[in-house]
Amino acid sequence: MPIDEITRKVSDRYAKAAATGEQMCCPTNYDMAQLKSFIPEEVLKISYGCGTPAGLKTVRAGEKVLDIGSGGGIDCFEASRLVGPTGRVIGIDMTDTMLEIALKNAAVVAANLGYPSSNVEFRKGLADAMPVEDGTIDLIISNCVINLAPDKRKVFREMFRVAKPGGRFTISDIVADQTVPQYLAHDADKWGDCLSGALTLTAYIAGMTEAGFLGIHLVKSSPWQVIDGIHFFSITLTGYKVPPATTPSPIRYATLRGPFNRVVDERGTAYQRGIPQPITPDDAVLLSYPPLAGHFVLTPHPVWLDQTDSRWTAVFPAQTPCTWQGHYALQAGPFLEAADDDQHIYRRGEPLEICSKTLAVLETEGYVPHFAILNRAGQPTGGTAVSCAPDGGCC
Ligand SMILES: C[S@@+](CC[C@H](N)C(=O)[O-])C[C@H]1O[C@@H](n2cnc3c(N)ncnc32)[C@H](O)[C@@H]1O
Repeated sequence: MPIDEITRKVSDRYAKAAATGEQMCCPTNYDMAQLKSFIPEEVLKISYGCGTPAGLKTVRAGEKVLDIGSGGGIDCFEASRLVGPTGRVIGIDMTDTMLEIALKNAAVVAANLGYPSSNVEFRKGLADAMPVEDGTIDLIISNCVINLAPDKRKVFREMFRVAKPGGRFTISDIVADQTVPQYLAHDADKWGDCLSGALTLTAYIAGMTEAGFLGIHLVKSSPWQVIDGIHFFSITLTGYKVPPATTPSPIRYATLRGPFNRVVDERGTAYQRGIPQPITPDDAVLLSYPPLAGHFVLTPHPVWLDQTDSRWTAVFPAQTPCTWQGHYALQAGPFLEAADDDQHIYRRGEPLEICSKTLAVLETEGYVPHFAILNRAGQPTGGTAVSCAPDGGCC
């Protein structure tokens, strides 16, 4: 479908939804009691997100926040509360009906929050050509919008342009576990349903890294729909516009603590657990951002870690047979590649089939934040226990 036609159909779809208050879309987990205390029902009932990007402890007081595809304004208003009266929020949307509802309620929300005037501004615009000045935004949020944009790479480049150096994004969106086939991609109705335009997790993160973001990692994921064997799931990702090192830093080495046995960062540098790796000043800046910072010991001189050191971490699989139950693990950052202690190599975004024993490892504290887990089994599996040798016998 031509780009203009996709955009027009998506906008018509959301204009109609806003006008009728139709229920649409995906899994969210808002604290509705809290939101109802200051956001009018007219806004809450046209919440069409697939996550809670403003409600995940991502917004800080005094910040300038941009919400791409702000719809009725739910996340802008939550961000307004969180940034406080000294912060600022800009919501961008292409659909007039959405903007009208959001605008109408901005003053009501400000009064409910006890602000002298609204700190939220709504602007009409497209995600791939945003009416926002370069390098001015601390935090970009977006909730179930980028999948609807015909040219996602352009949107990611726009995000990078408007972010301040050191700025970040927290984006919730729908992705798929495999490339969406042409017969779905050209189904006009399914564009509006957040299905046709969904990228794979690999392509989504690759678009963001190509735009210049680094430290891209998973905040949250949840399964959503399976259509013709394609798993669509909601993800919330964070990443940074990492500034270059400006001041001299004493940091010269990074030692991987674990639990991964080996990782490759987004600049292609490989780190083996316990072994100091020489790094550049720019690497030292990147590795100081969460969650990378928690995985490394950064030092001026080489530091080796072994199992006797409290900073060394590992999770070994149980020495028991395991069962294949249809689970797949998708490593969702911040590493291009990461290996566990059982010879699995997890390439960012690529589904890897895992057995019950590996699932138990990935559900432990050190691993769990890095993985989206899907189950592709159409029905409960027989669950015959098989012997899994670490030399690649089965998993
Ligand atoms: C699924 S709704 C989500 C709205 C809001 N983020 C929420 O959580 O309720 C998608 C919104 O994005 C807007 N939108 C979709 N594609 C857009 C684009 N390319 N540029 C600007 N806005 C867009 C639509 O008008 C609609 O309001």
